[in-house]
Amino acid sequence: MLSAGGYLPADLVTNEELARRYGLDTSDEWIQERTGIRQRHLAAPGETASSMGIKAARQALERAGVDAAEVDAVIVATATPDSSFPATAVRIQAGLGITRGFAFDLLAACTGFIYALSVADAMIRTGQCRTALVIGAETYSRILDWTDRTTCVLFGDGAGAVVLRAEEGEAGILSSHIHADGRHGGILHVEGGPGSTGGTGLLRMAGREVFKHAVTKLASAVDEALTANGLERGDVNWLVPHQANIRIIEAMGKKLHLAPERVITTVQRHANTSAASIPLAMAEAVGEGRFQPGDLLLLEAIGGGLTWGATLLRW
Ligand code: ACO
Repeated sequence: MLSAGGYLPADLVTNEELARRYGLDTSDEWIQERTGIRQRHLAAPGETASSMGIKAARQALERAGVDAAEVDAVIVATATPDSSFPATAVRIQAGLGITRGFAFDLLAACTGFIYALSVADAMIRTGQCRTALVIGAETYSRILDWTDRTTCVLFGDGAGAVVLRAEEGEAGILSSHIHADGRHGGILHVEGGPGSTGGTGLLRMAGREVFKHAVTKLASAVDEALTANGLERGDVNWLVPHQANIRIIEAMGKKLHLAPERVITTVQRHANTSAASIPLAMAEAVGEGRFQPGDLLLLEAIGGGLTWGATLLRW
């Protein structure tokens, strides 16, 4: 992995402002205590997964010192594409002026970025591409029920991108471990959508149920990734978790015996940006120069499906 970039919409909305704007019976205290979230960014009218993804990709390419013309694969994880098709990835490809290679979207809800990394890594290893842009881009504000305080306070919009390249050496993705169990599809889903109602569809979540699955499934994916590479929990230098809830993030940090400053945490400021949350967190950490060559990074996520997974990589 060469570098990471991110983009957040300009409209920064605090919990108090959100409650005022949408007339919600909630409080900053309730939201912070249960989730850690203090604020989120919301896309402006006209801003989409592709327009944000293009900005995140540009920053990632610039930081990596890679020209867009070198990219031969664009893989976008999103549950909120601009439209059913063309794929958001193809729109981003065009926006970056790339006219070769391939581009497609992938949907695994909040685990989308881990799935996309897994696919990109496999395609690089089998020689189907050499330089890949892997992007998570989401506009959840468009699928939220703004009258449902149990869900609409939890999410934000944004995009993050990383550049992967086939290279010899120690650095790069060691392995990814992805899972799904559709029996639990009903506890976190979008009700309706273009293939059923013709409309956009709105997000529904049984938060407690999701919470119950989160820590056990994430812990098992993390252990699977470490065992597959002959590593132990103490070997990890940085945890870059999906940013859904501070309590889940802290629980995972403790399981890995990591000091809090070794856990990249953005949920307070970004809220849950679904597939964009991990690359956005990576982009921030890269901007702050936190990862050093040789550091072992552990990425993990769980989301609608249910889907979950983990990726281990050497920076
Ligand atoms: N403001 C004020 N009160 C609220 C709000 C709100 N925004 N939302 C719910 N409440 C009330 C409920 O109505 C309920 O009231 P009642 O007891 O009178 O019925 C009370 O607060 C408790 O509600 P719960 O849903 O039981 O609250 P809980 O402690 O479980 O916290 C939360 C909810 C934060 C959603 C938690 O369950 C959670 O974090 N779950 C995991 C969700 C998650 O991580 N999802 C993302 C992973 S997948 C993905 O990223 C898409």
